Amino acid sequence: MRIEMNRIFTLALMVFVALITVQCTSDPASPGVEYMPDMYRTPALEPYSGNSNYADSMEARLPVEGSIARGYLPYGIPKTDEGYEMAGALLKNPLANSEEIIGEGKVIYTKYCLHCHGKEGNGDGLTVTAGGHPPPPAYTSAALAILSEGKMFHTITYGRNLMGSHASQLNVEERWKVIRYVQTLQNPNGDTPAETIDGAEPSEETTETEMVDETAMNN
Ligand code: HEC
Repeated sequence: MRIEMNRIFTLALMVFVALITVQCTSDPASPGVEYMPDMYRTPALEPYSGNSNYADSMEARLPVEGSIARGYLPYGIPKTDEGYEMAGALLKNPLANSEEIIGEGKVIYTKYCLHCHGKEGNGDGLTVTAGGHPPPPAYTSAALAILSEGKMFHTITYGRNLMGSHASQLNVEERWKVIRYVQTLQNPNGDTPAETIDGAEPSEETTETEMVDETAMNN
């Protein structure tokens, strides 16, 4: 009886060992025998696995041409001389001229503009003094002291001559914030307030101005 039990036990052990070894394969990447594979193999496409529904097999598709992301409106003013003038006449800073906004604008200026324009905006940043970059004009120069905020926005968005576009670094709100700070450098003594809008007092806004404002805010 005892021998009989030993035999059964040995046989069970052998079957067990055999079962375990059957599950091993020589391919280290193979999961071996899988029970109910549909429990963990989804029929959905895996990321980067390729998609046979498309000729180029690319799984992540590009948006349809002309698509506009939600909550985003393109800056409708063209990158031309006329566009520059138009921006100057129409765009108005939607942010308050408050200490808080100016303070935030200063932080942006220090990170993105100071190295060219200099601490006080005199065109003597390190790229000029140490790097030999041609100096930008001082914000207090005759031309820039009266530069309207719309033209500044246009220049920051598209760039101008040696100054590159900052549209990829600064969102619309950040551009208007840094403009608030630049205005304090245009007019450091606060005696001659710079024009905000070319050829018009801010009180003479038209509805058209407001529409463009909205466009600018969403860019
Ligand atoms: C690579 C150096 C460089 C950087 C960085 C730079 N600028 Fe300029 N900026 C210039 C130069 C050069 C000009 C003169 C462009 C021209 O020929 O009219 C200029 C011109 C300007 C003007 C006058 C534009 C006009 O319409 O006449 C403003 C305003 C201005 N920059 C603001 C900024 C602000 C704000 C930043 C940071 C977000 C910035 N710049 C970053 C080099 C730079």
